[in-house]
Amino acid sequence: MLVIALCKGRFLEPSLDLLRQAGIRFPEDLASSRKLIFNSDDQDFRAVLVKPADVATYVEYGAADAGIAGRDVVLESRADVLQPLDLKFGYCKIAVAGVNGTGEGKSRERDSKPTIRVATKYPHITMDYYNARGIPVEIIPLSGSIELAPLIGLADRIVDLVETGRTLKDNGLEIVEVITDSSARLLINRAGYQTKRDEVLRLIQALEKVIR
Ligand code: PRP
Repeated sequence: MLVIALCKGRFLEPSLDLLRQAGIRFPEDLASSRKLIFNSDDQDFRAVLVKPADVATYVEYGAADAGIAGRDVVLESRADVLQPLDLKFGYCKIAVAGVNGTGEGKSRERDSKPTIRVATKYPHITMDYYNARGIPVEIIPLSGSIELAPLIGLADRIVDLVETGRTLKDNGLEIVEVITDSSARLLINRAGYQTKRDEVLRLIQALEKVIR
């Protein structure tokens, strides 16, 4: 039985859809249940439900053989996992943003203050971005409603996920620079790719067929 870690929240429906089309079905409605473990109809797969930021950890440690999560949270986790497939949903960007009119680019950012305060739920990605540019940064870790931080003086900038751009727009914020693009990825445990090769390859091929 292969264990697949799935994200609770907005990735769950598209993930289940994809699995369904690949012939992996579950007898219960995972989205409405409070259970966390579900066996597939054919008993070949077990889905476990975890927070998006934790999917890569479950896969890296081998508690799950595979997982579906956004590239954003996988990058942030720095987990050592294989990512054989872009699953072609959950498209978004990770971007630096600031209050309208203050986002004129990196030179402005460099000149404005010795240390820039950045609120984010992606501290590693943010640190890497500013370190690469030699800009001193103070990270303010938050877990949600990041857009609020520059509006009430908690931070100069945010680094956050932008999907439609509506949250930024509705709060008078604009993108300063896009750091990277993100979409849903299939994650595979490195050791499992060798020890459960046939099952893992079957899963990859079945999902690949659907997304093509
Ligand atoms: C995410 C992200 C942005 C928003 C972007 O938040 O952190 O706030 O979605 O989407 P948009 O560009 O389509 O407006 P989420 O909904 O996950 O809630 P959170 O604020 O609790 O992180």
